[in-house]
This record gives sequence, structure tokens and C-alpha cells, in this order.
Amino acid sequence: MCGIVGYVGNQPVVDILVDGLKQLEYRGYDSSGIAISDGNDIKIYKAEGKLQNLENVLREHRDEIQTAKMGIGHIRWATHGAATLLNAHPHTCNCGKLALVHNGIIENFKELKVNLEKEGCVFRSQTDTEVVAHLIASIYGKVKDLTEAVRLAAQKLEGAYALCVMHKDYPNTLVVTKRNAPLLVGIGDGEMFAASDVPAIIKHTKRAVYLADNQIAVLKADSLNIINSEGQNIDYKVEILPWEPVALSKMGYKHFMLKEIHEQPDVIRNILVGKLHTTDDPVVLNEVKLTRETLKHLNRIQIIACGTSLHAAMIGKYIIETFCGIAVDVEPSSEYIYRRTVTDENTLVIGVSQSGETADTLTAIKQAKAKGSHILIITNRPDSAMAREADSLIPVSAGIEVSVAATKSYVAQVISFYLLAIYMAEIKDSIDASVLKTMKNELMIIPQKIEQILAHKEVIQKCAREYANTKDFIYIARGINYPTALEGALKLKEISYINATGYPAGELKHGPIAMLDETMPVLSILMHGCVYEKILSNSEEAKARNAKLIALTNSTEKKLDDLFDYIIHVPEVHEYLSPVIAIVPLQLLAYYIAEFLGKDVDQPRNLAKSVTVE
Ligand code: G6P
Repeated sequence: MCGIVGYVGNQPVVDILVDGLKQLEYRGYDSSGIAISDGNDIKIYKAEGKLQNLENVLREHRDEIQTAKMGIGHIRWATHGAATLLNAHPHTCNCGKLALVHNGIIENFKELKVNLEKEGCVFRSQTDTEVVAHLIASIYGKVKDLTEAVRLAAQKLEGAYALCVMHKDYPNTLVVTKRNAPLLVGIGDGEMFAASDVPAIIKHTKRAVYLADNQIAVLKADSLNIINSEGQNIDYKVEILPWEPVALSKMGYKHFMLKEIHEQPDVIRNILVGKLHTTDDPVVLNEVKLTRETLKHLNRIQIIACGTSLHAAMIGKYIIETFCGIAVDVEPSSEYIYRRTVTDENTLVIGVSQSGETADTLTAIKQAKAKGSHILIITNRPDSAMAREADSLIPVSAGIEVSVAATKSYVAQVISFYLLAIYMAEIKDSIDASVLKTMKNELMIIPQKIEQILAHKEVIQKCAREYANTKDFIYIARGINYPTALEGALKLKEISYINATGYPAGELKHGPIAMLDETMPVLSILMHGCVYEKILSNSEEAKARNAKLIALTNSTEKKLDDLFDYIIHVPEVHEYLSPVIAIVPLQLLAYYIAEFLGKDVDQPRNLAKSVTVE
């Protein structure tokens, strides 16, 4: 989703801004722009589409951009208004003296716009952001102080925003503020940075201040002042970012997605370090603060998440209910937040989020926290807004995930749920210890099994070629792999734009079966366990309607050869852990189909890596 970079210092600003935006590029965007100050004037450059287009524009103006030492940059993911040049940020006021970039959504922009138009403001774009530019400029005209104008304007804004503002009258100052959207200030040596996320600035500094909601920061090359919404100066804490500057490199893979799929065995090994020592030792989750007493009083668990994280949550439900005997509800965050939920101090609320920034999940978590629930966050970003709300935390340590379609972060979230379920079951003594011992053993050897799948991708590639031109795809499964069917179908939809749907196999006959004929591929996730025979029967039902049948299975039964048109074999695995094995070929199948179709695998159309608006 949108990204912000700001800089004030002594270096040529354009390269810093463009490089910063490149580090955020993976999040998904459809236009970009920068505003720079050369001490006299503010100049704005924008482009539709990829950053490369902006670089081309900048190349044409090489001579006029070299002296600028301050500026702001933005990549935009369209919400209000199409992805056009006019709607791209930065936006300005009537006289063009003020420029700003914005992440988030201003919910009351229409009301504000009506009033500003009455004052004579002329709007050029369809964005909510332009309203903020005119609003600050209008207030600035009265108070003649940029920081004060930003502070007063922010009080009139409803919704979510991270804002980075510059003005011709302040050639050495950036003013930034935020509410319900991430923004941090990086402190360098004689230079200051602003960014919506760490990768944009980590090459330059590891010292940063995470702004809290409604705080306003005034950045000059050698000073940083932060005030609260009342205008009082406040002390701030400089944090050392727990990041190394990573080159976002594909390491020889054609796409980040393929690289990230291949990283999964190591991601699992990494997450187990320090948490799972031997099959006899209890699982250690240092940042989980659920005491025996808290667990005793828990009457339910609610898991809230979006997208791929929601599918990990569904597996979490299955495993926690099985191991711990506690009722678990799973809900998309966007559904949770606009209804009366039965959440209280005896409810454990688990938020799952790769980014830790997804607006809907963050709002849901805050609501649950206000009701007194213990909040446990499973995230790949222990420095995120969600992690800051957490009473308990499980950092999934998957490393930065660049591909918009989540793969390794999903597997890491699923593994986190196994660890959490075992951890709680050990405290509660809620399941036979031998089951937990088997699980621990399986967890330790599962990376090797994934490596076996990755070593034999030809079968999946062949299957991808055979089905790449299908218009629709159905995935069926039951029990613990029903979420795997949903996730496999989501992966295919996201990157190939094929209409893929996951169904519980038993539901096929209650409607979806009407769609089956010889043009429809049906992929059955057929893993050994309590529903194996049931899925076989459901597959037969599909076969009887001439559907093309693909099996993803750890079975070597001969009879499968007659039933299925295509079989993808995976290593044997305990039923409870089978989702970790089953998802890998489905990620690869989606990848190879999209690659075969020539799609933009890492940055699929219309999608953003981290959705920071509701
Ligand atoms: C976006 C991404 C999805 C992701 C979802 C939730 O829609 O494109 O891949 O699953 O957000 O993100 P989160 O960071 O909360 O896991």
C-alpha cells in the first residue's frame, strides 16, 4: 500500500527519496511522486505506474533537481480517485507553496472540501489528500506558522493519516504527523528522515522515533522537536531499529515469491530456535504472558485476521480446540469491528498479521483491548503498531517478505499456532503428553520434508502448464486442510487472476457441484487422517460429473491412479501437521501458473502488501 519517505539534510535529496521508495515498492502501488525544495522553490515530479517511470521523468530534469537537499516522496495505491498523474502525490494548495504526501483515508474529506471551496480553494484531483493540503494552507494563512497549521488542521481530520508536509517559507523544515497509520522519524548525523516503514531509511540510520498518534514532529537537519496535540513539547524515546540493511535481492530466483517459498524450511527452523528444544522439554514462549491462572479462567478464544493470516488463524482454531479443549472463533477483522462482540476479560483475543499494520485488525485489537481481553499478537513485525498493543507476542521471524502474495509468513504463522497450542496444552494438561511429543518430533523434521517437495518441482510445473489456461479452479478439502484449500485458491487468484475457490469437500454437493463439467479442474487435498476416505468419496462425486481431478496427497494407494487425472505426491506427515506440507505445492502451483501466463507475480494488480486503510 502507499509509502512515504521524507528527508532533510545535506545530501542531494532525490536519490535518497527514490531509493527509499524503491525499498517500499514491494508493498504494492500504482503511481509515485516527489516534491523537493532547492531553498527557493518547491518542485513536484510525478508519474503513473512503476517507479521507473518517475525515474525517467527525473532524468529529463536532471539539471534542476541536483541542488535540492530536502524533499518528500510517495508511492500511491489508489483509494479515492483512479491511479492518474493528477491523483498521484504530492498534493499542493492553490498557490503551490505547500506540498504534502499522505497515507491513509480522510473520512470527512467531502465536508471539508465544501467549506474549502467556499473559501476559494480550487481542487485538481479526486483525492481525499488534496483536501488536507488546502486545509493546512488555509490555516497557515491565518496563523503564519507551519507546525501550528498542521496541528490545527489535524484536529479537523477524521480517519487515518500519516502526513509529511513541506512549505516554501520553510526551506529547511519538514513537519510530519500521524493517526492510525504508521510513521517513524529516522535520526541521522546532520540529517533527518521520515518514513512509513523501516526499509525506506534503514540504509541511512538505525536510530528512530516511532511517532504516537496525534504527535507532530518538526524535522530539521540537526534537530527534532515533537509536540503533542495541545502543542506542548514532549520528550521522545530514540529506539535502535532491530534491522540490518538488507538488499532486497532475489538471490538468483526469478521472483521474490519463488525465493520466499524456498526459504520456508529455514523459516521454520528459525522459529523453532529457543522455543522447541527437545521433545521432552516444554515449549518456551518467552513473550507469552498467559499464566496458569489466566488460562484457567479463559472461556473462549477469538482469533482476528485478514487474508492469508485469516487462513493461518483457521488452522490455529482447529489445533487449539484439539489440543486445549477451549472454544475458538475465527473472524475476519473487518467483520469483527462493526458489531457487538461477546468479548470480555475472560476472552483471549489473538491478532494475526504479517505486517502488524493492517488497519482492520489493528482496530479490532484495540476494541478487544478496551474490553479487557488479553491480547496476543502473532506477527512478522515485532516493531509494528499491533505488537505495541500486545500483552503477549509471538514474533514469527520469517524475515522481510517482499512478494505481495504471502507464503513464508503464512507457514511461520501456522507453526506459531502449533507452538502456542502445545504451550497452552502443556500448562493446562489438556491432552495426552504422547500426542504433544509426537507433534514436537514432527515439527522438528518438517523442514526436511518441505525440502523434499522443493527438490521435485517438475511434477508441479507440468501440472501448472496443463491447467494454466483454465478459467476456473476448485480446491476441496476437509478438516484441518479446509483452510489449506482456501489459501491455495487465494494464492492462485491473487497472482494469476484465475477464478479459484476453496470449498469444504462435503459442501460440494450442496451447490458448487452444479458448476462441474469436463472444463472444471477440481484439486482434492487428500492427506491421511480422519477425513481421507470422505474426501475420496467427494472426489468420486466430482469425477462422476466429468470434472478434471487433481490429487495432492501423501497416499500411494493404487486406486488413486484410476480416479485422478493428475497426482502430486508429498511426503508422509501426521494429519495435524499436514497443512504445513500441503500448502507448499499449492504455492508452487499458483506461482508456476502465473509465471507461465506472464503475470507480474510479485506485484499483482490491485493488491497491496500491507493494507493500512479500513
Ligand atoms: C493484504 C495482503 C495479503 C495479506 C492481508 C493481511 O491484503 O495482500 O497477502 O494476507 O493483507 O495482511 P497482514 O499483514 O495483516 O497479514
